[in-house]
Amino acid sequence: MRIVLLGAPGSGKGTQAQRLVQRFGLPQISTGDLLRSAVARGTGYGLAAKAAMDAGQLVADEIVLGIIRERLAEPDAARGYVLDGFPRNIAQARALAVMLKGIGQPLDAVVLFKVPYGEIVRRIAGRRSCPRCGAVYNIHDVAPGETLRCTVAPDHPPLAQRPDDNEATVAKRLTVYEQQTRPLIEHYESQGLLRSIDANAPTDMVTARLIGALVRPRPAAKKKRAEGKAVQKKPAKKKAAKKKTTKKQAAKPKATRKKSVKKKARARRSR
Ligand code: AP5
Repeated sequence: MRIVLLGAPGSGKGTQAQRLVQRFGLPQISTGDLLRSAVARGTGYGLAAKAAMDAGQLVADEIVLGIIRERLAEPDAARGYVLDGFPRNIAQARALAVMLKGIGQPLDAVVLFKVPYGEIVRRIAGRRSCPRCGAVYNIHDVAPGETLRCTVAPDHPPLAQRPDDNEATVAKRLTVYEQQTRPLIEHYESQGLLRSIDANAPTDMVTARLIGALVRPRPAAKKKRAEGKAVQKKPAKKKAAKKKTTKKQAAKPKATRKKSVKKKARARRSR
């Protein structure tokens, strides 16, 4: 399967992508993780991306598309993948469609994670991750007194907060989501690819909803709303006349018409 997980920062895309990796063995392709790794390694892509990431802005499309093109060409992506955090705007979505059309492997589904704003802010504020293996945790899930250490990496390093998880950058990332990423909802709805889930629930329940959404039959494509135009209602059809009056009947005055009907009925009875 080729799946896109769509949703605001902190809506749980990365957490659920990991679950799909464990369950179906599909690779998780997270542009955020790929960019953070490029920054850490000091590559050309990384150096170019760092300023935008620190400011909560989107990294330039050509950089992200370059990274995605390279990643999708790796052998493990041939069986399918979970795209997490990509595409992030209409231009990226169109470029992805062209890339996938070229190799005859279109997307199967786009799942939208719906989480209220307040919960998103709470989750991001509490997020901590392992600097070695990238495993994601949340301080709200840790019992009081428990130390924040990774349980996955062998040396159990202390967890760290992402540099872009500070209040000012989070506010910027949420604005960028509203302006540039939200339009993808209608974009994929119009292609019959979008499935939405209520992701404001415990992690296991969200996983069940995600898998449920993926096995549902493909939804019908929705028409795009015409931009800037009010939706015009079709004029109501006139009620069809109960009974058509023949030309001959119409020529006669109404009273005479009634009489002739009665006359005919009497004649039928006397027969
Ligand atoms: P990226 O790393 O993609 O960040 P994001 O989209 O902002 O998403 P997050 O990683 O913040 O959240 P998530 O939805 O994965 O939530 P998570 O599972 O961690 O991007 C970072 C930056 O890179 C961008 O700002 C941009 O600069 C750049 N970038 C990346 N992609 C780009 C692109 N395509 N184009 C241009 N620029 C790009 O969960 C969050 C927390 O909540 C965790 O602590 C988790 O434990 C917890 N949690 C998860 N699920 C639940 C639950 N059900 N209940 C309670 N807590 C939960």
